[in-house]
Amino acid sequence: MEYAEIMKRKDAILSQPVHPIPKDKLASEQKLYAERCKRSIEIFEKAKGMIPGGVEHNLSQNKPFPLAMDRAKGYKIWDVDGNEYIDYLMCGAPIMLGHSYEPLDEKIVEIIRQKGPATGLTSEYELLAAEEIIKHMPGVEMVRFLQSGTEADMAALRIARAYTGKVKIIKIGGSYHGWSDQMICSVHIPRTGNFEAKGIPAECFTHIVDVAPNDFEALEAAFKDHQDKGGVAGVIVEPIGGESGAHPVHPDWNKAIRKLCDQYGSLLIFDEVVTGFRLDMGGAQKLYNIIPDITVLGKIITHGYPSSGAVAGRKEVMKVCTGSMGEKIFVGGTLAANPISMAACYYALKYMAEHDAVAKATTFANRLTQALNDLYATRPDLGFFVYNYGAIMHYMTTAFFSIDLNTPDALTQIFTRKQVADDYQVVTMAHGLCTLAGTRMYTCMQHDDEALKKTLAIWEYVLSLIPRS
Ligand SMILES: Cc1ncc(COP(=O)(O)O)c(C=O)c1O
Repeated sequence: MEYAEIMKRKDAILSQPVHPIPKDKLASEQKLYAERCKRSIEIFEKAKGMIPGGVEHNLSQNKPFPLAMDRAKGYKIWDVDGNEYIDYLMCGAPIMLGHSYEPLDEKIVEIIRQKGPATGLTSEYELLAAEEIIKHMPGVEMVRFLQSGTEADMAALRIARAYTGKVKIIKIGGSYHGWSDQMICSVHIPRTGNFEAKGIPAECFTHIVDVAPNDFEALEAAFKDHQDKGGVAGVIVEPIGGESGAHPVHPDWNKAIRKLCDQYGSLLIFDEVVTGFRLDMGGAQKLYNIIPDITVLGKIITHGYPSSGAVAGRKEVMKVCTGSMGEKIFVGGTLAANPISMAACYYALKYMAEHDAVAKATTFANRLTQALNDLYATRPDLGFFVYNYGAIMHYMTTAFFSIDLNTPDALTQIFTRKQVADDYQVVTMAHGLCTLAGTRMYTCMQHDDEALKKTLAIWEYVLSLIPRS
């Protein structure tokens, strides 16, 4: 779906009230979910005493309780009560080959047996993994492995500042670049500034310039206005838009950023934690032919195996990571580039290329997008729709991400709309469909006709619960 069409349809959703599931129907769905998930609830209740909030980082539905998983295979997951789910969470993007992909798992088990977890020394797999990334990504000549996307984003900012000698970083509202102090600025929703920055001193944002997505004038002004105030070291972007495309970008947006970076001597940083090896083996940079100076990679490079992240780029830029103490930038990580993560990276990328995983996951996502849109079209009163960037799908039901903060009751709107989207998600979970945050679906190379049929049937059921207006 084209950018203009997405924006038009989002506006249409926002121009009408939400469509909640009637209370009695919702209550019986919640009851069904609770009855099916007794052990998950038990685990949650115990966890509350030991883990803040009773759950760690969980990208799916956490209310009324988070699901505790037992195992996963292909595109399916099973919870601790034995319920089966069609999974579109895919661990938050990294799973492209399918869960528990045996050839990969076997290699990892072999490595553990042969080499153990980590020694603090380099291994041949580090080289093989770097080679694999460099082979695919046009903007990458050198790779520094780290332990998470958050760390890699932090390193990217440091590299940009060290290389250019400038200080300001332009961050686009609504984008997520990990949870480091400087990056918790206008997360989730553009123009929210430090709304979610509890525990972070305001000074941490002194050198962050917050620009709303697709605001071409504000973007240019940010470069100009900061020229004599330390200058812009870099612009960090999610190339398909904030929250992996939940805030779509105008087709000229990335080109405009690239041009301004060149004009002002600033670096373009593509955060490809989700798009790298999912949108294309060469990332958004290859697909759109816009070459960043720095590329940030994360969870996908190890296909979900732990300690996963890398900052990469042109040799000339990456050289700031070398030299003697004081000359080079300080980045670290005891477990960074351990043999297990590096072997996972090497084999995962190799298998993805060999099996054309991106193309397969994309073909399925295209089909499911079309089929869901056909289904939603049977309920024009709701205005629901789906769009996808390859194997990254977004479904819009209440469009709570897109509320304009200038509207008088913006916060109430956001919370009300989010609640209704959460309620839809409880129903989908109760019937065996797991997605990300009730708005996003990631596909893998194993999703098939059966997955498509079941997904449609579950959504048909959700729609049947919503009264016609
Ligand atoms: C675009 C983007 N950048 C950075 C991160 C942070 O990665 P990590 O969770 O590995 O720290 C994420 C995580 O979802 C992400 O989506």
